[in-house]
Amino acid sequence: MEREVVRVIITGAASGIGRAVAERLTRDGQLSAEPAELVLTDVQEQALESVGDYVRGLGAHVATLAADLADPDSPRAVTAMASAVFGGLDALVSNAGVIQFGPLSQLAISDWDRILAVNTRATFLLAQATYPLLRESRGSVVATASLAAHHPTPSLGGYAVSKAALRMLVQQLALEWGSDGIRVNSVSPGSTRTAIAGDQKDHPSDDRIATNPLHIYSEPSDQAGVIAFLLGPDARFITGADILVDGGSNVQLMALRAAATQVDHYAVDSRRP
Ligand SMILES: NC(=O)c1ccc[n+]([C@@H]2O[C@H](COP(=O)([O-])OP(=O)(O)OC[C@H]3O[C@@H](n4cnc5c(N)ncnc54)[C@H](O)[C@@H]3O)[C@@H](O)[C@H]2O)c1
Repeated sequence: MEREVVRVIITGAASGIGRAVAERLTRDGQLSAEPAELVLTDVQEQALESVGDYVRGLGAHVATLAADLADPDSPRAVTAMASAVFGGLDALVSNAGVIQFGPLSQLAISDWDRILAVNTRATFLLAQATYPLLRESRGSVVATASLAAHHPTPSLGGYAVSKAALRMLVQQLALEWGSDGIRVNSVSPGSTRTAIAGDQKDHPSDDRIATNPLHIYSEPSDQAGVIAFLLGPDARFITGADILVDGGSNVQLMALRAAATQVDHYAVDSRRP
């Protein structure tokens, strides 16, 4: 029987989707013979510790490491911790992300560099660092991309570029690592109720809900469920894929055009015979 996916690094684990993934994998571990063994990392030390305590209370074995993923040495340190504490690694959830609003014409180089460092380069460096461990376990990677990786997004130019590059990184890794039995995928969340989304002060939350056909906000657990699926055995034939978890926002383009021109395409056309 294949080994359960239990030894997992989760970045951005102190809040939102990362926290929800930690909780989800811990609960899945309750149902299996082997409890989850999680390395949780985030730049927010206190919040990270409280998530660690919470999932420990649910039965997971947990190691935490406060680290800034903009620092190119952090990925090696996080990986070394997984090796030292759990003796290996079954999966990497590269989820930490930062956002920066504003037009590209005014985006400072330092902001551009930080967005790319956290959202894109850190996944590349984590992938490099964890490769020997994932090859041994024939493990799996899931990165958190974004709906913004699929479409140019007003006032999120740097972020959209970083996430689009992340998607290609995932596909490239899937290509290179397939023969090692390592699967690499991404999820692309639409608007999800987390701190990062709350920072979108210029965009009333009603607008974000209105732009998906379901007219609901995603909860972090919606994203965590799909990430857990991609890590698990039911996804054994899926690699290089990106799953949009966006309430259908991606299929709204033509409807939004119709709304902008105020044409009601569902009305009966009286000119038809
Ligand atoms: N919430 C949404 O609407 C949404 C939509 C699309 C994509 N995403 C992506 O989902 C991922 C998770 O974000 P979230 O929605 O849970 O928001 P969140 O703000 O709750 O979580 C992001 C986490 O990343 C951590 N982080 C930020 N910079 C870091 C750094 N330099 N080093 C280490 N950790 C760092 C933060 O401390 C935080 O805990 C991000 O990659 C984000 O871009 C979110």
